[in-house]
Amino acid sequence: MGIGNRIPEEVLSQPNRYEPKVEKPKKEQPSVNFVPEEPKYELGDIILPQGVRDDILDVADYARNSKIVFEQWGLGKTHKYSKRMGINLYGPPGTGKTMAAHAIAKYLGRKILAVSYADIESKYVGETPKNIRKAFEVAKETGSILFFDEADAILSRRVTNMSNATDVSVNQTRSVLLMILNDHEDFIIFATNFIENFDPAFMRRIAKHIKFSLPDEECRRTLWKMYIPEEMPNNIDIDSLARKYEGLSGSDISTAVLMAAFKAVRSGASCVDQSYVEDATAGILASKEDNEARKGVTTRRVVSEEYAKSQMQRES
Ligand SMILES: Nc1ncnc2c1ncn2[C@@H]1O[C@H](COP(=O)(O)OP(=O)(O)OP(=O)(O)O)[C@@H](O)[C@H]1O
Ligand SMILES: [Mg+2]
Repeated sequence: MGIGNRIPEEVLSQPNRYEPKVEKPKKEQPSVNFVPEEPKYELGDIILPQGVRDDILDVADYARNSKIVFEQWGLGKTHKYSKRMGINLYGPPGTGKTMAAHAIAKYLGRKILAVSYADIESKYVGETPKNIRKAFEVAKETGSILFFDEADAILSRRVTNMSNATDVSVNQTRSVLLMILNDHEDFIIFATNFIENFDPAFMRRIAKHIKFSLPDEECRRTLWKMYIPEEMPNNIDIDSLARKYEGLSGSDISTAVLMAAFKAVRSGASCVDQSYVEDATAGILASKEDNEARKGVTTRRVVSEEYAKSQMQRES
């Protein structure tokens, strides 16, 4: 500042007036864009024990016939609450839950709106419940089946001794979802790996829980056959693979074949040898065991750090 540019006395006595103005960053608006999609799978694509397949068909038929029963035949008035039809697909990763959600939507001739907790979680106060509402709105407007993946992230048991802001916000998000669910009259699908911690209030709103287990030997045999294309030159003994390797999911089997094929090409082999598949399978099983062992010492993160912080700032 030049000498001729003296600051007037009255201004100096109010020092704050000369503080540089800092532009506050504009609050970023959440931009969750829910887009329904055509279902990618049909029931015939999924290898499942007959009991599970029957359960899926039961609920899918219930949903398919709901229009006639509740709307045309008027049972919507006499059986108001039976209209709600939520199902929960639960079980270990890679066992076909997401495939089944798509297959059900396809069976019903509807699009699917898949929403995972990562999609709706917002670090901004109050935005997560808003995103949930929006997902329900978009599903209604577009006539698509809502599919909530990773449902355990929101629907685990209520935290009763709320020790921090994260607990409070998770409880709020859960309450909002339960409230919306009460008014939602369409079929809705949830999927989770963890059913143990589900909130009883949520369990009551779900008409059917369908368990997806790791495939038994017979299903594994079908899966191996399914994921080894006829064109792929190989000397693989499917029976022995199905018998020998337990604890594999459908996803693991598909991955093992892929890894073995790439290994064969990279090694310049003219066919995919049994040993390549066995090596890949053993590797996958070892890393699964490793993950299991680590589970005991890590705690699952339910909401992000940023989200927790924003909630704490709001409270302070
Ligand atoms: N039962 C099955 N039949 C046929 N293929 C399967 C089956 N289970 C898994 N797969 C294969 O694994 C892939 C992943 O399956 P999917 O996404 O349905 O598993 P998920 O149970 O939803 O797993 P997560 O719990 O991790 O979400 C599928 O795209 C398919 O290639
Ligand atoms: Mg899934």
